[in-house]
Amino acid sequence: MKISAITSAVALAFVLVSGPLASAQSAAPADPTEAGKAVFKRANCVGCHKWHGNGGGGYGGDALSLRKTELDRQHIIETVTCGRPGTGMPYFARGSYDTAKCYDMSRQDVGERMPPEGGVFLRPNDIEAVADYVLAHIKGRGEPNYDECTAFFGNTSRVCDIYKANATKPASEPSK
Ligand code: HEC
Repeated sequence: MKISAITSAVALAFVLVSGPLASAQSAAPADPTEAGKAVFKRANCVGCHKWHGNGGGGYGGDALSLRKTELDRQHIIETVTCGRPGTGMPYFARGSYDTAKCYDMSRQDVGERMPPEGGVFLRPNDIEAVADYVLAHIKGRGEPNYDECTAFFGNTSRVCDIYKANATKPASEPSK
C-alpha cells in the first residue's frame, strides 16, 4: 500500500511539473537569445553601448559600435571576459588577469592599462549568452528603428518615440 501511495504521489508530481511546461513549449517558440538580452541589461552594457549597440559618449568613454563591430563570437567573448586594456571597456569575469590571464597578461603585466572592473561579474555561460545576443540582434544591423526599439523595451517605452517618425518611411539605403 505504502509503495503504491508513493508511486502515485510521484506520478502526480510528474503531471504537475510536466503539464504546464509541456504546454509552454508548444506555444510560440521563445527567442533563444532572451537570456543574453537580460545579461545585456543586467551588466549595463546598455549604459555605454546603448540599447541599440551604437554606443556613443558615456561614462566609460566612447563605446565602439557593436552594430559595426567586426569581432566574431570568440573575440566578443574575450572582450567581455577581459575588457580592453587602456580603454573604458570593463572586464566582466571574476579573476581576469589574476587567476586567468587575459591576452596572455597578468594584472602586473597590464599595469596602468588595467581596464575597469564591470559592475557585476558574469559567469562564462552568461558571457556566451550576451555574445550570442549581440550577434543575433546588434552586429551588422543598420540604423536602429522603431520595431527594434519596442522589441528591446517592450511596446510601451516612450524611449522609442523618437524612432516613430521614421517608422513609416522606407528605410534609406545605408551609405557605404
Ligand atoms: C563603462 C562602459 C562600458 C560598459 C559597461 C560596457 N562597455 Fe563594451 N566597450 C566600452 C568602450 C569604451 C569600448 C571601446 C574600447 C576601445 O576603444 O577599443 C567597448 C568595446 C566593446 C567591444 C569591442 C567592439 C569592437 O568592435 O572592438 C565589445 C564587443 C563590447 N564592448 C561589448 C560589451 C558588452 C557585451 C558589454 C556588457 C557585458 C559591455 N561591452 C559593457 C565601454 C563599455
